[in-house]
Amino acid sequence: TGHITIDPGFKNTGSTTSDITYLDGEQGLLRYRGYSIEDLADKADFLGVAYLLIYGELPNEKQYDDFVGKITRHTMVNEDMRKIFDGFPVNAHPMGVMSSLVSAMSGFYPESYSKNDMEEIDLHIIRLMAKFPTIATWCYKKSQGHPINYPKNNLDYTSNFLQMMFALPVEDYKVDPIVSRALNKLLILHADHEQNCSTSTVRLVGSSQANLYSSISAGISALWGPLHGGANQAVIEMLEAIKEDGGGVEKYLAKAKDKDDPFRLMGFGHRVYKNFDPRARIIKKSADEVLAALGVDDPVLDIARGLEEAALNDEYFISRKLYPNVDFYSGIIYRALGIPVNMFTVMFAIGRLPGWIAQWLELRESGQAIGRPRQIYTGETAREFKEIGDR
Ligand code: CMC
Repeated sequence: TGHITIDPGFKNTGSTTSDITYLDGEQGLLRYRGYSIEDLADKADFLGVAYLLIYGELPNEKQYDDFVGKITRHTMVNEDMRKIFDGFPVNAHPMGVMSSLVSAMSGFYPESYSKNDMEEIDLHIIRLMAKFPTIATWCYKKSQGHPINYPKNNLDYTSNFLQMMFALPVEDYKVDPIVSRALNKLLILHADHEQNCSTSTVRLVGSSQANLYSSISAGISALWGPLHGGANQAVIEMLEAIKEDGGGVEKYLAKAKDKDDPFRLMGFGHRVYKNFDPRARIIKKSADEVLAALGVDDPVLDIARGLEEAALNDEYFISRKLYPNVDFYSGIIYRALGIPVNMFTVMFAIGRLPGWIAQWLELRESGQAIGRPRQIYTGETAREFKEIGDR
């Protein structure tokens, strides 16, 4: 079978070539289809970036209107999906619910046998992009004991999401443009990140030619973990714990450095970025702006700043090239926008969805072989079977 190299965690193994996202971890560069993350976060809107990732080019006006129009027309979710949703306990984690319901979509929109019919695949893509935020808001509404809101198709993508999250039938609700813009930026920053854990999962599942919904559902599950997307929830929980504990960061730095203590500084470190995470820079600035604009004074922001500064001056973190990542400040913004902590990772998923779709599509179009890593067996050599009484 030839020589097998073991690379646990795939630290040095490339799984594919890709035209989608360029990342230079030494220089802190991130580009989608050649466009810098700084430019896109500043000048584009989330659906324009989604189009760029999925179809390869920034949309012209007609393409943009067409794409947004199609997504807008598909935001409603089949009422029978609600029956599945209603069966979840009220305290079910939204990420588990999202993964389950996206998987359930494969039952509502089965793929036909013409596996490479781009028109049909496109419709699945539109449905996913359109319905995903709608389903996400169900989780929050249920947790509040409130009726769900239907999508309003005169609103843009982020405003519609905010409306479904926060509008109450008993009062007027107006989307705050500061909130909508901040959300738009966060979603763009999360939209793709080449072959990370969840994206690699989407590709691996997709490589067996499983359908889009199943592949994305697997990606959501992978994203949930605290070492990946779940870090944004873990960061706020950590900062809250520090606050409860009197606000001193030294004890937590010491815990993070202690190899006998499993505690890690959440929101710190990255497999690829070794000088800084460009997304974190944009988000840190945005956190300051958004909190000031909304008049929110969150003591946790000061703790975050203090922790960052202490860590960046600490030999342990310097020598290991550990810097704040995208999740260090994102939770602070989400919280200022009124999004509850257990929805943070869902927000990441809404942002990452177009990236997953683009990567799934690229894999599919490349005709790459099924993903099937090898191993080096380290278990027992051949043994003789023992009857149960002799064991
Ligand atoms: N706190 C304390 N020590 C750390 C941390 C941390 N957050 N991150 C890495 N280290 C240490 C680690 O113990 C190891 O030390 P040593 O060489 O002495 O054994 C060294 O730094 C290298 O770490 P690693 O675990 O080998 O690095 P990795 O590339 O496998 O892990 C990571 C990357 C992001 C999983 C890790 O840095 C981590 O667990 N960070 C905290 C969780 C987090 O914030 N995750 C979000 C990642 S960004 C959003 C996303 O893309 O999902």
